[in-house]
Amino acid sequence: MPRLESLELTRRVLKHFENDTLDIADDVWREPRSAYVDPERFRADLRMLKSMPHVIGWAGEVAAPGSYTTKNVMGVPVLVTRAKDGVLRAFINGCAHRGAQVAAEWGTTRMFSCPYHGWTYGLDGRLTGTPARKMFAGADLEQRGLIPLPISDQAGLITVGLSADVDVSAPLGDISVPLSDYGFGHNHHVETRRFDLACNWKLAVDVNFEGYHFPYVHADTLDPLASNNSVIDIYGRNIRWSFPFRDIVQFRDAPETDWPDQFFGTVVYGLFPSCVLIEAPGTSQMLRAYPGKNPGETVLYLSIGAPKEITTDEERAWYKMGIDGAAQVLDGQDFPMAAACQRGLEAGVDHVVFGRNEPLLHHLAAVRNQALAG
Ligand code: FES
Ligand SMILES: [Fe+2]
Repeated sequence: MPRLESLELTRRVLKHFENDTLDIADDVWREPRSAYVDPERFRADLRMLKSMPHVIGWAGEVAAPGSYTTKNVMGVPVLVTRAKDGVLRAFINGCAHRGAQVAAEWGTTRMFSCPYHGWTYGLDGRLTGTPARKMFAGADLEQRGLIPLPISDQAGLITVGLSADVDVSAPLGDISVPLSDYGFGHNHHVETRRFDLACNWKLAVDVNFEGYHFPYVHADTLDPLASNNSVIDIYGRNIRWSFPFRDIVQFRDAPETDWPDQFFGTVVYGLFPSCVLIEAPGTSQMLRAYPGKNPGETVLYLSIGAPKEITTDEERAWYKMGIDGAAQVLDGQDFPMAAACQRGLEAGVDHVVFGRNEPLLHHLAAVRNQALAG
């Protein structure tokens, strides 16, 4: 985030710190249980999500010509490549022969070779080799290749659409301005972990956007370090939530010229509909939350990035500690609460209430409902 913006955040947060306040909503919000448990609503969510662009990675993951990465996006295997021509492309990661995934994980390569019968593809998606090709005379192989998907790079973030008609030309809108400053175009992928959660996908996203639960759920992890004297910023469907380290109070009496370039705390971005970025000094995390097979299931990926390639054991250990810590907080503390809420809603709790101190949950509910209607 640009320094000027970070200073402004610090000013707003320090004011809240002094008055022990936070940015709040005008009223309370009620969301019916059907949003989390109803199969019909779930199908509507799926249709809405399939029609939206999704942020799925950092452009730095495929910065070099010849690099590629693979992602699972709502169950769709997606292959992202940067061919020698420098062009960023996305495909369904499914072989034109019988559909098997032609690439796994990430790396650099000159071509993909399908593990099933050895068909090969260039990074531009063209079918380049077919063993026993004569056996496929009449199958129109010249027309076959990997199926392209829409893709774009804005603010160093890779966005894809899951079908050809999804517009990914400017998926981030105004939030691309603060995001452009993080250097995501240079972020290297360190590790991704998958979590299968027993809650609706919306609950899995929402745990990241309120601090009301800090003293109860994170009493021994986050709460001693971070405060909920937080500020919110809204950019259309996208959101930003900034909460400070408690030690930010040290800057209260210091001149602004001595304030750090980076906001002294955690900044969480919600990139509609499925991506959450967690940025704090020295750490860059991406969460991607997708519905599972029914309203009470979520498939969530937690990725950790680094501003440069990880080469030494010390660096590896440091980043492993980072993702272990994030997993401890999320999977050990937040996600069990989301699953507990899901059980209560399934059992008959008739609606949830978002307090005035949970303003971003209001916004998330509102924009989801809007997207469903539109
Ligand atoms: S499925 Fe890929 S070569 Fe057969
Ligand atoms: Fe939490």
